[in-house]
Amino acid sequence: MKTNSGLNVHKAGKIFRAGSRQPRVALEGVSLHLPPGQVGVLLGPSGCGKSTLLRMVAGLEAPTSGALSLNGRAITGPGRDRGMVFQSYTSFPWLTVRQNVAYGLTINGDASSLKEGVVDHFIRAVRLQDVANAYPHELSGGMRQRVAIARTLANHPELLLMDEPFGALDPETRWQMQELLLGIVRKEHTTVLLVSHDIEEALYLGDVVFFLSSHPGRLREVIRPGFKHEVPAGDREALLDHPEYRRLDLHIRRLMSEEGRRAA
Ligand SMILES: Nc1ncnc2c1ncn2[C@@H]1O[C@H](COP(=O)(O)OP(=O)(O)O)[C@@H](O)[C@H]1O
Ligand SMILES: [Mg+2]
Repeated sequence: MKTNSGLNVHKAGKIFRAGSRQPRVALEGVSLHLPPGQVGVLLGPSGCGKSTLLRMVAGLEAPTSGALSLNGRAITGPGRDRGMVFQSYTSFPWLTVRQNVAYGLTINGDASSLKEGVVDHFIRAVRLQDVANAYPHELSGGMRQRVAIARTLANHPELLLMDEPFGALDPETRWQMQELLLGIVRKEHTTVLLVSHDIEEALYLGDVVFFLSSHPGRLREVIRPGFKHEVPAGDREALLDHPEYRRLDLHIRRLMSEEGRRAA
């Protein structure tokens, strides 16, 4: 594998300077690598800079030091090679599910013959085929979030970015969404970088978990839950029951409370 493939973050830092207020060091010297086809999770206490780092990868925020690249190309702004799914449901209320999923393709000018196939493929992938002609207000929160995921994936991004995508959902729906997402990314070999503050979510979804410390946000530890190869793919109960899961869960809880104490 080429070392410049996937996402590379090299000594990235971010200082926010706003008017007369003290500059705020949100991130300092963060270096990480996410290989293609893997799910990376940015985990850490609230305010440690997870969203800032994700927004830098999206090109929505420029680093004040360091550099970022995707598959060998420098990240200098937003681009079609990256697709972002936000926590809030970002579907267009005046468009049907199908029109919402097709929206990005329409503005990007894909041939319509290709488009129909792609749109239907991803509507089926997120299991919304029965409501393809419904409007967002007729759907549950989980369904609306699936519309946003399908729309983003239909554009074939090289990297799917998600900022606490399931944080607003009830636990049962969140679990279903995590399972669905995992199924899709395994099948499509999507590379994903996801922000979470939930340890179970991080260990369930992540091939690699980047734990950030707070004030300033630094990469404190890289955790690879490799034991997951020993349990059936996506089997949450088997995962939670695994001794290595319990060890990592406890370890990360300790990191979280240490960071919490440091911040206080
Ligand atoms: N636009 C901004 N201007 C000033 N400070 C910001 C801005 N965005 C984020 N911050 C600060 O940067 C730090 C990291 O924020 P954020 O990335 O949102 O953390 P997280 O997503 O981990 O909760 C926080 O201290 C936050 O107040
Ligand atoms: Mg955040």
